[in-house]
Amino acid sequence: MEKRLYDYGMIGLGTMGRNLVYNMCDHGFSVAGFDKDFSKVEILEKGKGIYKICGAHNLKEFADALKKPRVILLLVPAGSIVDSVINKLKPWMSKNDLVMDCGNSHYSDTNLRIKKLEKEKIHFMGVGISGGESGARNGPSIMPGGSKKAYERVAPLLEAISAKAKGEPCVAYLGPGSAGHYVKMVHNGIEYAFMQLIAEAYQLLKQGAGMSNDQLHDIFLKWNDGSLKSYLVSITSDIFKQKDNLTGNRLVDMILDSAHQKGTGAWTTEDAMALQVPVPVIDVAVSMRNISILKEERLVAQKQLQGPDMKINIDKQKLADTLENALYFSIITVFAQGMALLRNASDAYQYDLKLEDIAGIWREGCIIRASVLDDIMAAVTTQPALSNLMLSEVFKEKLAGLQENARQIVRTGINTGIPLPALMASLSYYDSYRSGWLPDNLLQAQRDYFGAHTYERTDREGTFHTEWNQKQH
Ligand code: 6PG
Repeated sequence: MEKRLYDYGMIGLGTMGRNLVYNMCDHGFSVAGFDKDFSKVEILEKGKGIYKICGAHNLKEFADALKKPRVILLLVPAGSIVDSVINKLKPWMSKNDLVMDCGNSHYSDTNLRIKKLEKEKIHFMGVGISGGESGARNGPSIMPGGSKKAYERVAPLLEAISAKAKGEPCVAYLGPGSAGHYVKMVHNGIEYAFMQLIAEAYQLLKQGAGMSNDQLHDIFLKWNDGSLKSYLVSITSDIFKQKDNLTGNRLVDMILDSAHQKGTGAWTTEDAMALQVPVPVIDVAVSMRNISILKEERLVAQKQLQGPDMKINIDKQKLADTLENALYFSIITVFAQGMALLRNASDAYQYDLKLEDIAGIWREGCIIRASVLDDIMAAVTTQPALSNLMLSEVFKEKLAGLQENARQIVRTGINTGIPLPALMASLSYYDSYRSGWLPDNLLQAQRDYFGAHTYERTDREGTFHTEWNQKQH
C-alpha cells in the first residue's frame, strides 16, 4: 500500500459499500477500503487509476492508512457481524475515532454499541442509508443519528454524497443515540406497506381485470406521471416490460410468489405495538409476506376453500382510474401512520425528531421517494403540532375527495374475493381514526366481566368495577 493517508475508511465492499466508495471519490474524498473477502478488495483496487482509493488486506493496514482521528464507515450485514467487526477493529483504533454503522441495524443494538464504545472514547453513529445500489453510487437518502458533534465532523461528506431534492442535500442530523437507525426502520416499514399496496393493485388488475403485462406497464407509467409519482411505481412499470433470458416470457411471471424479508418491516410493527401506535397497513404488509411464503398450503387451500370467481366486470380504464385514487388515498394513510410512529418514538426515546427534516430527506434518493412527500413536508412544516398528518389542511381535503374511490376498490375486492388487506386496512384506519365513538366500551365491559380489569366511565372520574350479573354458560 502507498504511504499516503486517506480521508475515510470503508469496511464492507459489497455492492452498497463499493458504490458508496466511488460516490465519495467522485466528490473528491480519498477512501481506504477493507473486506474480509479479498476478491472484493481486488475489485475496489481496480479503480485505483481513476480514484483516490486503496484496498487494505488486514485491519491494521486499514487503520494505518487513515487520517486521524479516523472516520470509518461500516456497510456490513446487520446483527452480530457488526459487533464482530467492531471487536476486531478496536485494537487498531484510537481515542476520538468515529465509526458509522451504515447498515440496517436494529436501533436497540445501536444504543448498546454507542454506550460500549463511549467507554473507550470512540464515537459511534447509526446511519440509515437508503437507495439501493444506484442510490449508493449516485446519491442516497442518508439518515444519521448520534452525537451532534460527531455528525458535524462528517456533515460535509454526507451532504456531498447524498441525493439532492430541489438542490437541498437529502441528509440531516436527526437526533441523538439511535435516532438515525430508528428513522431508517420506519422508512422500511413504509416501504413494505407501499410495496404491498402496489402488489394488491397488480393482483386486482391482472387477476380481476385480466390485464396483460404491457397494459400494466402502461398503467403504472401513467400513474407515475400523476399523484402516485414515486420510485416504487416507476420501477414497477419497468418490471412489467422485462423479458426473461431463459424462457423469453416476461420475467415477473417466472418469479415465485413468495416474498422474503430481512426483518426491518417486522421491527417497525413490533416497536409500534410496544409504543401502542397503530400502524395497521405496515402490520398487514408484513403479515402478507408471511402468507406469501405458505405457497404449498395456499395451493392446497385453493382447491378446498370457496369464494367468488375473482373476475371484475367493469370498464378497465375506469377501474384503473379509481384504483389510482384509492392507492393515493392509502399511501397518504401509510405516511400518516409512519409519521405518527416517529412522533411517538421521538417522545418515548427522546430523539427530538423534526418531521419536516425527515420528510425533506425522503424526497429523493430513498426507496420511498414520492411526490407526495413535497406535500407532507409542507404539511408538517406549517402544522408541526398536528397529531396526525391526515388532519392537516392539505391532506384532509385530499382524503375527503379520494375516500369514495378507496371504498369502491375495497368493495370490488370483497365482491370478487381478491385479497386487498392493505387497501382495506388503510380505509379502516381512516374510518376508525375519524370515529368519535368506537365500540371499545364493550371490550372494557367484557374485560371487567371476566377479569375484574375495571373501566372508566363517560360521566365521572375514577376507575370502576361491577359485579356483573354473571349467568352459568
Ligand atoms: C433501502 C432498502 C434496503 C433494503 C431493504 C430490503 O432503503 O435501500 O430498504 O435497506 O433493500 O431493507 O428489505 P427486505 O429484504 O426486508 O425486503
